[in-house]
Amino acid sequence: MLHFWDASWPLIVDKCPCDVHFVEWLEQERIAGAAIFHFGTGEHHVIAKRLAETNSDNRLYGVTASKNEYQTYIDLAVADPEVARRYNVVFCDIYLLDRKLLPVFDVVTLFHLGEFWNEKNAAYGAMTDRQLTELMLDRMPKGGKLLVYTGSYAFDKAEAVVDALEAAGRLIREPDFKTLRVYRKA
Ligand SMILES: C[S@@+](CC[C@H](N)C(=O)[O-])C[C@H]1O[C@@H](n2cnc3c(N)ncnc32)[C@H](O)[C@@H]1O
Repeated sequence: MLHFWDASWPLIVDKCPCDVHFVEWLEQERIAGAAIFHFGTGEHHVIAKRLAETNSDNRLYGVTASKNEYQTYIDLAVADPEVARRYNVVFCDIYLLDRKLLPVFDVVTLFHLGEFWNEKNAAYGAMTDRQLTELMLDRMPKGGKLLVYTGSYAFDKAEAVVDALEAAGRLIREPDFKTLRVYRKA
């Protein structure tokens, strides 16, 4: 059976501020016209709603492994085509993403790297956290930005992956933004 996430996440900024910090980072950096990949939409879809509010020309591709979060995306898209215009959500196990089905992304968030991968994913030969991160890097242009979340309860695992890729010369660290660690693809 697919290792789906049997839960649904509302916006709880004091517990998990990563998506709100990401919105602030996009605005600070004046990111425009970018294709953005986002790991873990939540049921709140705050990034997409903010893009629609500000009439941003960024595009967002979110993934969720939660049935309810996916349903909230469907409800949102039906209710508000302005959100749906530049926001697509895919229900999946992120560790099964297929290179041939992925476009190129200018910005990639892997805020929940390390949090959910376990033996259930391994049972069907899904990628590891390191392989997932390398796949996303392969789908980014040179200079593309990859962000991880230092407040994640699994940040030790995520940090091990990005540290190794930095040591291998594939990532270059940029200034942190609040709870987010930012890298540039070398
Ligand atoms: C704790 S919630 C955080 C949601 C949002 N980023 C936030 O901070 O409010 C974790 C997110 O990871 C997603 N997720 C968990 N396992 C996943 C998997 N294997 N593939 C894709 N998404 C997954 C969940 O669907 C959920 O959206």
